[in-house]
Amino acid sequence: MYGNDFSGPEEAPGGGLLGEVEAAETALREAAARQRSSPAAEPGVDLAAYFTDVIAADQKIEPRDWMPEAYRRTLIRQIAQHAHSEIIGMQPEGNWISRAPSLKRKAILLAKVQDEAGHGLYLYAAAETLGISRDELVELLLAGRQKYSSIFNYPTLTWADVGAIGWLVDGAAIVNQVPLCRCSYGPYARAMIRVCKEESFHQRQGYEILHTLSHGTEAQRAMAQDAIDRWWYPSLAMFGPPDGDSTHSEQSMAWKIKRFSNDELRQRFVDMCVQQAEILGVRIPDPDLRWNDERQAYDFTQPDYDELLRVIKGNGPCNRERIAHRRRAHADGAWVRDAATAYAAKRADQKEKVAA
Ligand SMILES: [Fe+2]
Ligand SMILES: [Fe+2]
Repeated sequence: MYGNDFSGPEEAPGGGLLGEVEAAETALREAAARQRSSPAAEPGVDLAAYFTDVIAADQKIEPRDWMPEAYRRTLIRQIAQHAHSEIIGMQPEGNWISRAPSLKRKAILLAKVQDEAGHGLYLYAAAETLGISRDELVELLLAGRQKYSSIFNYPTLTWADVGAIGWLVDGAAIVNQVPLCRCSYGPYARAMIRVCKEESFHQRQGYEILHTLSHGTEAQRAMAQDAIDRWWYPSLAMFGPPDGDSTHSEQSMAWKIKRFSNDELRQRFVDMCVQQAEILGVRIPDPDLRWNDERQAYDFTQPDYDELLRVIKGNGPCNRERIAHRRRAHADGAWVRDAATAYAAKRADQKEKVAA
């Protein structure tokens, strides 16, 4: 699929996610150009009132600004979890790079997995502006003290899983992340704009893999359907527990870190997928999925939240394998970090000598 030979996810009715990213980017630039709603923090200024004003005026909190400790901690937790998800998320797909069915597929998948490493980097950098180091964050991940998205604890059994991950997992990620382009914390919002643009490529590549398979042989069609059957409910669970059980939501909404509830985003994702599944010619594995005229949305079966809890607690199909792999990779990379540190020290030394 090069060019617009068939309608892809972003052209699908109700899609338009890239348009929203563009609008968020414009809003971000406008907010930066606008005068602050109250004078910048000076001695005697009520810092808490200033913070509230900035949020109310839809402007951005920047690293130099005062912020409540709980806001800082919430952002560190959320951005770190997001960064870890990007890095751990490289594993299930990286697993298929050597087995991709053609050179073209291999090159595309390689680019996608590299993008995820880049997303991790932007996000660790955004978290660092909140006063925590990347080393500390990596330690917390390896020690199991910070989480990553439960979705990456499921195995990729066939090539079609790479398609299903792109379409459904990256698709759910975009639906979750587009509103974050308007998050009240500047560095996070800016990182999300770039991430979302790249995620849209990821979703499209997955969609295109499934489109090829679902228009191929009987065996290819069955493989595509099987992957969708396995990834559908875990993808729905990516939006988190239902609103009633979601612990952090209300405060995050008030701080404009979060703009929509878990259930609102999940609904939006389902509505988007139904139309895309029709174009793909695949079945969404939910016998109770049907249009509700009154709600102007699809009714659907909720994912198994007990399963989600089990996976979050470390008992999904691949939790141990993922963390063990990351620990090994981190240990294997120690010499690279040591060499880079030694090189940086040598350069600094040389500069000092030249300056002296
Ligand atoms: Fe990503
Ligand atoms: Fe992605």
